[in-house]
Amino acid sequence: MALKASLIVDKDFVLAEVDKRIYGSFIEHLGRAVYGGIYEPGHTAADENGYRLDVLDAVRRLNVPIIRYPGGNFVSGYNWEDGVGPREERKQKLELAWWTTETNQMGTNEFADWARLAGSEVMMAVNLGTRGVDAARNLVEYCNHPGSSYWSDLRIAHGYQQPHGFKTWCLGNEMDGPWQIGAKTAVEYGRLANETAKVMKWVDPNLELVACGSSGSSMDTFAEWEATTLDLCYDNVDLLSLHMYYNNHEGDTPNFLARSLDLDRFIGSVASICDYIQAKKKSKKKLHLSMDEWNVWKTQGSSRAEQRWQVAPPEFEDVYNLEDALVVGCCLITLMKHADRVKIACLAQLVNVIAPISTENGGPLWLQTTYYPYLHASLYGRGTVLHPILHSPKYDSKDFSDVPYVEAVAVYNEEAGEVTVFAVNRHLTEALELQTDLRSFGSVQVIEHHVLTHDDLRACNTKEAPNTVKPHLQSTEELQVDGGRLEIRLPKASWNVIRLKVKTIG
Ligand code: AHR
Repeated sequence: MALKASLIVDKDFVLAEVDKRIYGSFIEHLGRAVYGGIYEPGHTAADENGYRLDVLDAVRRLNVPIIRYPGGNFVSGYNWEDGVGPREERKQKLELAWWTTETNQMGTNEFADWARLAGSEVMMAVNLGTRGVDAARNLVEYCNHPGSSYWSDLRIAHGYQQPHGFKTWCLGNEMDGPWQIGAKTAVEYGRLANETAKVMKWVDPNLELVACGSSGSSMDTFAEWEATTLDLCYDNVDLLSLHMYYNNHEGDTPNFLARSLDLDRFIGSVASICDYIQAKKKSKKKLHLSMDEWNVWKTQGSSRAEQRWQVAPPEFEDVYNLEDALVVGCCLITLMKHADRVKIACLAQLVNVIAPISTENGGPLWLQTTYYPYLHASLYGRGTVLHPILHSPKYDSKDFSDVPYVEAVAVYNEEAGEVTVFAVNRHLTEALELQTDLRSFGSVQVIEHHVLTHDDLRACNTKEAPNTVKPHLQSTEELQVDGGRLEIRLPKASWNVIRLKVKTIG
């Protein structure tokens, strides 16, 4: 007999409205993300500005609401002035985060242009490693002030009459990490973030600012860093960042697939710290969370170019397989389940560097396995997240107890009259029947059931075989909704998206 799990999806069990920005991503001046990724003049697919149209097309299909830029570790050594103005006058500089040479041929204005073409908002970051309040407030003035001031007039002189109007800004990047250019103690960072935030908001009161949380929950300073920095900058910031990467270096797939439970715990812990500071300050402001770097990151070893000072050398060009896509799917479901608190999340990164989109310089583009859960979540995961009442058989793994074989959540898009169930079957050898109770919706009809799976967990897409792991549409003939109950068969080791049309609300 097939294993069974059950899910109640009730329109009245509202968890939160999804902030679409949880389907954001990230482009850093790192490896071939920018040069050879989004920008490659001379490529046959490039437009007159050098933007690869094949990449733009793949990004547009994802409907990415927001993209973090320009770093990452890169931002902590970046002088933004180097990347604006006539290209031929831009300085080529040593880039110390990744030990490369930065040509500065792409900068703030070009990225704003590119993001507009991609249909995405820009999430900017300021350098709080080598710089501080002054460079940050000048950049806000340059980007967002309408005119009649030195920096805004310089933007206009550079050909950008209209301000960019960037709303969301990161106050530095991973400032707790010893690898960071200009790393800080929690007190140093908390003070600097506070002063920078205060002054940036004086230039543009509409800004929404993200303070740096820890680089990950495994940092020795984790939790204390959050509490100390927030104590110093709580009133002037709006979100706190979380970063998290997973890998299966141990080759223990059941444990790897359970990593989203760690993500769940991490989010819960950081939310508690924010609430502790809120209580301490007797503030009415609740801080939101920005999971602005998350992904599976497989590359091991040195993160810096073996041969120093190359221009855009390949870095972290991970090749993702099916199990990686399942972990990404579980993480997406987890982010949806925290929609009440997580308002921004950025899959790190978008092109070539630990990315769902791969390109070859002068060559083609192909899509990694992880592209597909990201695509489905971004397209169909908009609306209201409903509290999933889920009962699933469970297993224990090396680091986790009671791991449900089924990870699932449902999102109700009232405007479109659709409910979408997202589900991962973590079982490696058996299919699972997911009995879904949709009675509160009255009459519903199955639109389609997307499945991403493969017999080989290690199967991946490559330039030579780009379609090895692709979603298919499962026949919905047997998917009858009977009295508001639907039995969904989740194949072993699979990502599933079941879209339902609400015909009449019960
Ligand atoms: O995303 C790659 C790198 O990972 C980023 O530059 C840094 O913030 C993190 O450590």
